[in-house]
Parts: sequence; C-alpha cells; structure tokens
Amino acid sequence: MKFGIGLLAALLMVGCSKGGDTAGTTGGAAPGGEKPLVVFSQANSQDPWRKVFDAETKAAADKHKDHIDFDMQDAGGDAAKQNNIVDTFLVRNPKVLLISPTETSVQSSIEKAFDAGVHVILLDRAIDSEKFTALIGGDNVDIGRQAGEYVAKRLNGKGTVLMIQGIAQATPTKDRRSGFMEVMAKNPGIKVIEGDDCGYQRQKARSYMETFLQKGEKIDCVYAHNDEMAIGARLAWDAANPSGGTAPVFVGIDACQQEVVDLIKAGKLDATFKYPTPGAAGVELAMKLIGGEKPDSKKIVLPTEIVTKDTADAYLTANPNLAK
Ligand code: FRU
Repeated sequence: MKFGIGLLAALLMVGCSKGGDTAGTTGGAAPGGEKPLVVFSQANSQDPWRKVFDAETKAAADKHKDHIDFDMQDAGGDAAKQNNIVDTFLVRNPKVLLISPTETSVQSSIEKAFDAGVHVILLDRAIDSEKFTALIGGDNVDIGRQAGEYVAKRLNGKGTVLMIQGIAQATPTKDRRSGFMEVMAKNPGIKVIEGDDCGYQRQKARSYMETFLQKGEKIDCVYAHNDEMAIGARLAWDAANPSGGTAPVFVGIDACQQEVVDLIKAGKLDATFKYPTPGAAGVELAMKLIGGEKPDSKKIVLPTEIVTKDTADAYLTANPNLAK
C-alpha cells in the first residue's frame, strides 16, 4: 500500500513536470525519450542572402538529426507574424530558439522565450534588450567603416554619395550607416545624401533611384546597405543612361550571390563586403548549449572581407556555394 502511494506520487510528479514546466527546462530530456527541439524563426526567406542562410542552417541541423528535432519558419518580413511564430513555437517547449529578427519590435516574444528558460540565439539582427543568450553575426559598424574608407579613397575625398538604406528599424541598417558616417565625418569634402529606407529590396531601390535620377543631381557614388539594393540602383542608372557615360561608384554589402560577383567582374558594381551567414554557427552553438556548455561570449562576430574586381575570382573559388 505504502509502495502504491509512492508510485502514485511519482507518477503525479512526472505528470506535473511535463505539463507545468517552463519551455526551457523540459526541452533537454523529454520523458518519452524525444529529442530536444531546436526552432528557427527566419525574418524572411525570399532574398538571396537569406536563401543561402536557410540552406546552411538546414544542412547544419541535418548533421545533428540523430540528436535534435529541428523546425524553421519564415516570417515573410512581417514583425507581427514573427512574434506569433515564436509564440507558437514556445508551446512546443523548444530547448533553443534561433531567430533572425525582422526588426527590433520582435522583442516581446523573444524576451518571453528567454524568461521561459529557452536558450535564445539571435542571428544577424539584434534587439534592444539583453534578454538573449548569444548574438551571432557580422560587425556592421566595422563593415560600414570599411565601406566608408573604400569610398573615400575612390572619390579622393571629394564628391557626393547617395546612401540607399535598409529597413530603418533593423540594427544592421543603423550600424552600416553609423560606421560609414564616422568615416565621412573625417572627409569633409564628401557630401552624403541620406536616401530612403528601401527595405533591403532590389525593386524598391530601383524605383527610388529612378525617381532620384530624374532630379538631375550629380552623384559620384551609391553606397547601398546591401547588394540587392546596389543592383537595383545600378539597373536604374543603366536605364537612365542608355548610351553609357561615367557611372558612379557602386558599393554594396553581402557578397552572397553569383550575380553580384559577375557584375563586379563586368565593372557594373565596384565593391561589396561579405556579410557572413550565421546559421551554421547558430546550430553548432545550439548543440553546445543543449550539451550544457556556455557560449564563449555573448557576441560572436563573424569576419568580413571586401570583394572587388581584383579579388573576384579568388572569392568565387573560396565561396563555391553562392546563391545562383
Ligand atoms: C536580408 C538582408 C541582407 C542584409 C541583412 C541585414 O534580409 O537584407 O541582405 O545583409 O538582411 O540584416
């Protein structure tokens, strides 16, 4: 009889812990022997950089498929949708949430996950909160600075730059702007026109550039916060100048697609900066956290490099998996 009550109590405890535990504490060793769940919320899966990022994340997760369950969802660039996706993920008690936030307003669901004990790994874009386990991505201030140094040199310290901006509320946009402006402050002969938020999208940048060129203002350089927008701006310039002429210097960021390297080789774009995709590093860190390790640091910076006509071929050899 005594034994029977003890067993009943034990069963009740198992029942309680399964139903009542917070998400983060149950993910590791589920009673039914299920594997820990790692979820990935992608800001959008449409643009070339994120297609590469998704493929690398999936491939990395696949390598660990005997040890984790993995699921990912695309928020289509919509912050409200992404908050809902994260909330829905949380119901499934994930051990790790990998997330590339659409913008800083996705904070509430991320904080909720962190407070529930889920390991939260931010990929590429940050939030205005310390409630995350680690952030993995490029150093966008440094990339902005390097772009500024390149432009200052190409313009010999004189001229006008049109800066076409990414999503205003995404941290890479702010950082790519501030690093660039820091260098421009030391180059008083260069005027910077702070262009619109073109959402990191080719078509928006193309339309914006079309309208801008109609004003007839002379520019010597276009600094776009990503390659898709640099391509859009270049297409608009070509359409407005059918017989050629001296084109401005075009600089982008990402270096993740074959098209960009081809355009650099063809002299249509001048330079881009590699923005390393953080998905594989994110999955590896998730595995460490599941194994009980701590991240080496809260901010894990992946390196950049410049790609120009001189380095394009070597870059292609070293990076065979660019988006086609
Ligand atoms: C893709 C993207 C990249 C850019 C990154 C910044 O959505 O726009 O082109 O480098 O996001 O967060």
